[in-house]
Amino acid sequence: MGAFLENTRIVRHADAGPGYRTLVLEAPRLSAALSPGQFVHVRVPGLEASALRRPFSVFFAGEGRVELLYKVVGRGTAALATAAEGDTVDVLGPLGHGFPETCRGTPLLVGGGYGVAPLHFLAARMVQSSPAAHPILFLGGRTRDDLLALDRFAALGVEVRLATNDGSAGSKGFVTDPLDDALIEHRSKGMPFELFTCGPDGLLKAVAQRAVGTGMPGWISMDRHMVCGVGACFACIQRVKGPDGRPFNARCCVNGPVFAANDIIWDS
Ligand SMILES: Cc1cc2nc3c(=O)[nH]c(=O)nc-3n(C[C@H](O)[C@H](O)[C@H](O)COP(=O)(O)OP(=O)(O)OC[C@H]3O[C@@H](n4cnc5c(N)ncnc54)[C@H](O)[C@@H]3O)c2cc1C
Ligand code: FES
Repeated sequence: MGAFLENTRIVRHADAGPGYRTLVLEAPRLSAALSPGQFVHVRVPGLEASALRRPFSVFFAGEGRVELLYKVVGRGTAALATAAEGDTVDVLGPLGHGFPETCRGTPLLVGGGYGVAPLHFLAARMVQSSPAAHPILFLGGRTRDDLLALDRFAALGVEVRLATNDGSAGSKGFVTDPLDDALIEHRSKGMPFELFTCGPDGLLKAVAQRAVGTGMPGWISMDRHMVCGVGACFACIQRVKGPDGRPFNARCCVNGPVFAANDIIWDS
């Protein structure tokens, strides 16, 4: 479905951890049109005249509402954080290509920081459409404060394996440690799996390497700075292999943000 503008209304806006907020929008049209891994482009209330829209993944869409989970990092998100329940927000979407919603074998979801947002929407869809799917979420952060939305994954019945750098929750170290344990287990038992990830670049690359190394499908949601969000400005370039195998400059906003792990050409 092509992108359209919806004038949404804030029905809830709450803290979701230190520096994080969840924004729940009444958005009947968008809620029915969005797929996991797609994003929306938000005109921040109060910054309308002077500022560009800001891109956000979809944390959940359905039942007439769209939820975002965001981190306050700068001018736009700081202004968004002051928006009140009842305010209207102009939202453009659905944008980009998201994750495949079906999966052969176990869906292994790997997230860090606000990257957990599209993985939650994906897990919700998978659980809803196939109760036998049993996704496993691997979630990492520096401390337990960085581990978001655990209650929401618990409500979906999704198994969660945690890792923190300081050991304040889950195993001490990187999220790739429990992931590697799961990969070893799956491979030793001949169980198929697919990898789905969103988070900091280092994590994306580590997960992509594991997908390529194991020969299993991997789906990587690239986080690139965006300006127009609709393919016009070339601000969000990522080098990828095209269908003919030759490199080309993909625009993350229209060709992504989700790419097959095999196709991504990493800078270093
Ligand atoms: C497809 C996509 C999905 C996204 N989904 C989410 C989400 O679900 N939740 C969320 O909190 N954020 C998400 N982001 C990032 C979000 O768009 C930025 O954090 C936001 O635009 C920053 O706006 P600002 O005006 O507050 O910050 P600015 O003042 O513009 O920047 C403040 C700081 O944030 C950095 N920054 C800005 N944009 C990005 C970016 N895309 N990635 C990493 N760092 C950035 C800047 O370099 C700077 O250091 C997503 C970005 C993309 C491209
Ligand atoms: S943000 Fe303009 S082309 Fe992608």
